[in-house]
Formats: sequence, C-alpha cells, structure tokens
Amino acid sequence: MFLSSFLVLGALLPSAVRGVTVYGQIPIGITSAADPTATRPAAYNDTTLTPPPIPNPPIGTRFTLALQATSAGVYPLSIPLKGTFYGFSVEMSVINQLFGKNSAHISPIFLNLMANIVARAGAVHVRTGGNTQEYAFFVNELPFGAAIAKQKADTNNPTETPAVIYTIDYFYLLSNISSLVNVKWYLGIPFNETAPFRLDIVHHGEAILGENLLGLQAANEPDLYADHKQRPETYSPFDYFGEFGDLVAVLAADDKVPVKNNLIGPSVATGDWTPEMVWDTGFLQAYSSNLMALSVEHYPDNNCFAAFGVGQPKDYQQEFATFLNHTAGQELVRPYLNTSRIAVAAGKPLLMFETNTASCGGFPGISDSFGGALWAIDYGLQMGYSNFSTALLHVGGQNVFYNPFTAPPTNESAFFDWTIGATYYAVLIVAEVLGKTNTSQLLDLQGNNANIFTPQYAVYENGKIAKVALFNYVTDPSGASDYIATITFTGGTVPGSVRVKYFLSDSVSTKDNMTWAGQTFGKMKAVDGRLQGTLDVRTIACDTGANTCLIPVPAPGFALVFLSDAAWDGVGDPQPATYSTSAYTKTQNTARIDPTALAASNGNSGKLWDSVTGSTSRKSVSAAWRNRAAHVGVLLGAGTLVATVASLV
Ligand SMILES: *[C@@H]1O[C@H](CO)[C@@H](O)[C@H](O)[C@H]1NC(C)=O
Ligand SMILES: *[C@@H]1O[C@H](CO)[C@@H](O)[C@H](O)[C@H]1NC(C)=O
Ligand SMILES: *[C@@H]1O[C@H](CO)[C@@H](O)[C@H](O)[C@H]1NC(C)=O
Ligand SMILES: *[C@@H]1O[C@H](CO)[C@@H](O)[C@H](O)[C@H]1NC(C)=O
Ligand SMILES: *[C@@H]1O[C@H](CO)[C@@H](O)[C@H](O)[C@H]1NC(C)=O
Ligand SMILES: *[C@@H]1O[C@H](CO)[C@@H](O)[C@H](O)[C@H]1NC(C)=O
Ligand SMILES: *[C@@H]1O[C@H](CO)[C@@H](O)[C@H](O)[C@H]1NC(C)=O
Ligand SMILES: *[C@@H]1O[C@H](CO)[C@@H](O)[C@H](O)[C@H]1NC(C)=O
Ligand SMILES: *[C@@H]1O[C@H](CO)[C@@H](O)[C@H](O)[C@H]1NC(C)=O
Repeated sequence: MFLSSFLVLGALLPSAVRGVTVYGQIPIGITSAADPTATRPAAYNDTTLTPPPIPNPPIGTRFTLALQATSAGVYPLSIPLKGTFYGFSVEMSVINQLFGKNSAHISPIFLNLMANIVARAGAVHVRTGGNTQEYAFFVNELPFGAAIAKQKADTNNPTETPAVIYTIDYFYLLSNISSLVNVKWYLGIPFNETAPFRLDIVHHGEAILGENLLGLQAANEPDLYADHKQRPETYSPFDYFGEFGDLVAVLAADDKVPVKNNLIGPSVATGDWTPEMVWDTGFLQAYSSNLMALSVEHYPDNNCFAAFGVGQPKDYQQEFATFLNHTAGQELVRPYLNTSRIAVAAGKPLLMFETNTASCGGFPGISDSFGGALWAIDYGLQMGYSNFSTALLHVGGQNVFYNPFTAPPTNESAFFDWTIGATYYAVLIVAEVLGKTNTSQLLDLQGNNANIFTPQYAVYENGKIAKVALFNYVTDPSGASDYIATITFTGGTVPGSVRVKYFLSDSVSTKDNMTWAGQTFGKMKAVDGRLQGTLDVRTIACDTGANTCLIPVPAPGFALVFLSDAAWDGVGDPQPATYSTSAYTKTQNTARIDPTALAASNGNSGKLWDSVTGSTSRKSVSAAWRNRAAHVGVLLGAGTLVATVASLV
C-alpha cells in the first residue's frame, strides 16, 4: 500500500519540479480554516490542566545555601558530567519527518535545534531506534530516494510499531547531519531474530559514521520481549545473556566490524526485570570488553490505556501533581542507585537510553507543559547527581504528547513550521547547567529543609563552585510563594555580582508561553528552531562584605545562577550556527500565493512534495537570512536569498 501510493504519485512528479524553492512559509489564514473542534494529533493537543494547589504548609520563602567554594571534601558529588548529558532518542520510524527525507534533503529546522544544544554543550547525542529498530531491515533502494520507509504494523506487538525499511542513505543522512552540526549517534541492532542477526546497521554504521557513531544498542527492552510476544514466555535474563554472547561471537569473527567494544546493554525497561537480574547472570564480567556503556530505559508512568486500551485509565489532573516536586525524580532514580554504583565501579558510563514523562505517548497537559519542563530538568539533574552519564528523551511522531520537537504532518509541511515541546527546553537548559568543560559535578543541596517544591543543585566545574540551579514548582500568582535564596560561600567569598537566567511561565500548566532568559521558540507550528527575542540576563549585585548573593525565584520558575565568569564564558550567551536549507519544493514559486488555494490544491500531496525536493543543506552565512523580518524567503537556484515575501507574513 505504501509503495503503490508512491508509484501513483510518481506519475505527477515532473510537473512539480521547479528550480525555485520556497521554504519556511506560514501563510496566514490556513490555520483559521481548520475546524477548531476537530480532534488534533496529540502533539498539538490543547488540554490545559489546573496547577496543583499552593502547598500547605507553605514553602519557606527565605533560606540560605552555604556552598563550599571548592569541591574538596564535598560529598556526595557526582562523577564529572558533560553538557551532552541530555540528548534525544528518536524513534527510527520518524527520522524522515524530523531529520529529512534523505541525505540530500535535511531539515534546516532540525539542524537549528541541534545547533542550539551544540552551542551550549559542544555536541549533541542522538539515538535513532526504539521499538521500531527491532524489525528494521535493509533494502537497496526505496522510491524517490527515501532513506527509510515504514512497512506495516506488527499485530503481535501491543505498541503496534511498524517495521522500518531503510537504505544505505539512512547512514548518509546521519553522516551528512554530523558534517553540518556536531551530532553523535547511537544506533540499535535489530533483535527480533538472533540466528542469524541482521547486521547491516553495524556494517554500514561503522563504515559510514566512523567516529560519529557512539555505540550500538544490543536489544531494546529485552525484559518486555515475552510480553510483546517476541520471545517465548520463558525468556529470562539468562536467555538474553546467551543472545548477547552470540552477538559478541558473531561480531568478533566479522571483519566488516572494525570496532568490537561499542555495544550497549542491557536496556531493560525495568518492567519485568530489574537490572540486578541481568548483573546476576555475570553479564558485566563476561562482556566488559565489549560494552561501551550500561543502559536502562524507563518511563515514570504510562498512558497505554488511552493509547491502546491496555492497563489502567489515568486521571491527568491527578497525575499532574506527581510530576511537580523533587520526590518525582528521586523516586525514578532510586531503583538504579545500586546499578550506578556497579557502573562507576566497573568504569562504564550508565545511560538512561530512553525516557520521557509517560510511555504510550505521554499525558496531555503534563508532558507538554511548563511543569513538565521543570520536572524534566530536575529529573535530568537528579540522574546526573546519581551518576548516570547520559539520558535520552524520547521523540515520537504526531501522536504523542511528550515530543521535544514535532515536525508538521507531511501533508502540511510546506505550510506550517515546527512545534517545540516543553521537554526541548529542558534539554537546552540542562546543556547550559553542565556546560562544555566535561568536569561538571552535581550536588543536590537539599536546602530549605529539603522542601520538595524548591529543589536546588550546585554545579562544580574544574573543582570550583560554578553555578547553582534553583527550582520553584509552586504556581502562585499572588507572589506569596516567590522565594529568595541567599547564596553564601564557605572557604571563599561570593563575587561582586552574578548573572542569572530564568526559565519562566505564568503557570506550570502553560503550554506555549515559556521563556528561557527572555527568549522563546514560539508557539505551536511557528518554530524555525531558533530562539526568538532578546536575551535577558539579570545581573544581581552581591554583598561581598556580608558574603551573600540574594537570588529571587518566582512561583513557578527556575533560575540558573552563574557564579563566575569561567562558568558563563562560552555557555551563557551561546551563538548557535543557523541553517537555511531549502526543504520543500512546490510548483508555486511566485511571491503571491493564495494560501487557501494552496491548501485546497496540494493538501493531500504531501508525499509528493517530500519526495521531489532537491536542494542540499547549506550553512547560512546570509545576513539577510539571519536578520529577515519576514518568516518567508524565496531561494533561487544555487541558494542566494533574493527576496522576502512580505505579503505572506
Ligand atoms: C486532547 O487530548 C484529550 C485526551 O486524549 C482529548 O480528550 C481531547 O479531545 C484532545 N483535544 C483535541 C483538541 O484534540
Ligand atoms: C524479524 O524481522 C524481519 C524483518 O522485518 C522479518 O522478515 C522477520 O520475519 C522477523 N522475524 C520474526 C521471528 O518475527
Ligand atoms: C551527503 O550524502 C551524499 C550521499 O547521498 C554524499 O555523496 C555527500 O558527500 C554527503 N555530503 C556531505 C556533506 O557529507
Ligand atoms: C546490587 O546489585 C548486586 C548485583 O545484582 C547485588 O549483588 C547486590 O546485592 C545489590 N546491592 C544492593 C544494595 O541492592
Ligand atoms: C510528590 O511527588 C511524588 C512522586 O511522584 C508523589 O507521590 C507525591 O504525591 C507528590 N507530592 C505532592 C504533595 O503532590
Ligand atoms: C557518584 O560517584 C561518586 C564518585 O565515585 C561517589 O562519591 C558518589 O557517592 C556517587 N553517587 C551516588 C549517588 O552513588
Ligand atoms: C569534552 O569531551 C568531548 C568528547 O566527549 C571532547 O570532544 C571535548 O574536546 C571535551 N572538552 C574539553 C573541554 O575537554
Ligand atoms: C505569556 O507570558 C507573559 C509573561 O509571563 C504574560 O505577560 C502573558 O500574559 C502570557 N500570555 C498568555 C497568553 O498566557
Ligand atoms: C493533513 O492530513 C490530516 C489527516 O489526514 C488532515 O486532518 C488535515 O486536514 C490535512 N491537512 C491539509 C492541509 O490537507
């Protein structure tokens, strides 16, 4: 069915190709034509919950954080962490929507989103995989040069994920992205059959990605294989141990596999098995020289009843409060504290390979809210404090609530831009918290009598106090729950002033009105991947005589306090590269386009547009692009920006 629709569209191809590309356009008027009562894909859902009540007893609104100026003797500090701590786990089946159709056609918005993280962290780590990697298979060619395509849903699997078909261009697509912006990749080896393994991903991944390949996941959530009917009901950690050993043996004997020590496991969902059940098989001892990292996957909750009629229905309003305090992240990490000690002792990084607010798509009004972003920042820092080295927030398609970023539906891709989810802000902010030095060590400060609504973390860089992260989970428009944290140093004196960046919104319920240091990505379907607005950094004078800096934090809100120039430099005011790649080609290329006619005539031929675009990626050096007042540009031939189309803005 998929293939035949491509062939039919193929007949229309020649008439659609033109030398001119229109990109990034948002014709006004199309959105208003939509029926406002129609059910929308989850990524655009408008559910807004009520913030939880103001805590009773109320939070303390004046408290002191005494910070040791150097890390010597500070306990328990985390291991050194990198700004790449938070990355993305992109479901393999949606990479064509998000990254681009193929290696010659990369989404500039995706590049901008990755460049933002790179500007703060030096790199960004992205996994492509998930349930859809298990049945993935290689073919020589797909219609229209597509890098991947979907086959059909597997009816045996409750998450109903289709097999992904991919070509060699999947690897060129990733490689070309890495050549433009510093993305490093995790790939997954299909595990639905292990005799023989399908190793195309290993062979081509190693050969084409080289140093940009971080590691290869060997099995995705094996503890759920029996539930998903991908293995017999008796499938146990010892069976997984055996299959992993089979893989190691096959790779050892394969001269097309130059790197033998980059495997990642066991990636248990911590559903039916604990990680300890795998450690108890001798996994770590047996495969230490093959493992680049240990991994787990976990979501705090699930929305599978709403998505698939499996499990219990959820009351989203009640669930909301369970995300909005410090206990949430602590409880998520607790089952892994023993494992993180085992990993540190073994000298292996521990990866949270896939996580987000709730499996089966997340929760409306939570996953996509300002409160969800606060939760994700706290959870990320709690994982870091607990000696995880990396955590990847999952990205799915249109039908999930938790996406950090969502591309327009393909049939609308020339009309609307992208949507940023709350979790993207969390990744961006955690990148700034940890910065570029690779030496950041976290301490959960437990100040304010360990009040669960006002967590705080200290960050040490190169052994010196560098930053403090302050949360306020309470929504209280009266101002009575705003707090002031007094920072004082022991073994040193506070600087004359500090810089503070705030992450703000009116309420934890807000979905598209949040700002990081005064800047925002914009509202639903209006995102080009760059922060908009003027950077607003507060300079707060300290009292060096009293050795205090007073930092206000509104309710709700998050503050990142930069305690030195060293902490600020290169991270506080990042200058990401921006990309203006042409992404979509249509027949209409004149300046005046009737948006309604466009919708009517091309509304259902999205696959066609996606397939015929021919321009290649290009780093923008055009001042006209950077400064464009309009959101719409016309790109001619080789890529000169010749005009903005004011009439459409
Ligand atoms: C948003 O999601 C909720 C819960 O799934 C659903 O009831 C509601 O209809 C959705 N709203 C829209 C506009 O699609
Ligand atoms: C494994 O996946 C491949 C490719 O999708 C498929 O051909 C094969 O039938 C699958 N095997 C099992 C046992 O499901
Ligand atoms: C992009 O991929 C193509 C293969 O489709 C390759 O020929 C080209 O060199 C790549 N470009 C870059 C910049 O890596
Ligand atoms: C940690 O895990 C190991 C391996 O499974 C186990 O032997 C040990 O008892 C665990 N320790 C704790 C405190 O749970
Ligand atoms: C705080 O979060 C925990 C963990 O999700 C939850 O069990 C608890 O009910 C929350 N506390 C309040 C006061 O909402
Ligand atoms: C993290 O690792 C450091 C260094 O080994 C250790 O001191 C600290 O106790 C660990 N933290 C946790 C939560 O295990
Ligand atoms: C941090 O680590 C990355 C590799 O993970 C390396 O490329 C980078 O140069 C390191 N940065 C510093 C400041 O050492
Ligand atoms: C958006 O946030 C700003 C600043 O907090 C506020 O003034 C404005 O009222 C908010 N707009 C909406 C629609 O919530
Ligand atoms: C795109 O497809 C969706 C689902 O089929 C439909 O609801 C929407 O109206 C389409 N958009 C356009 C512009 O045709």
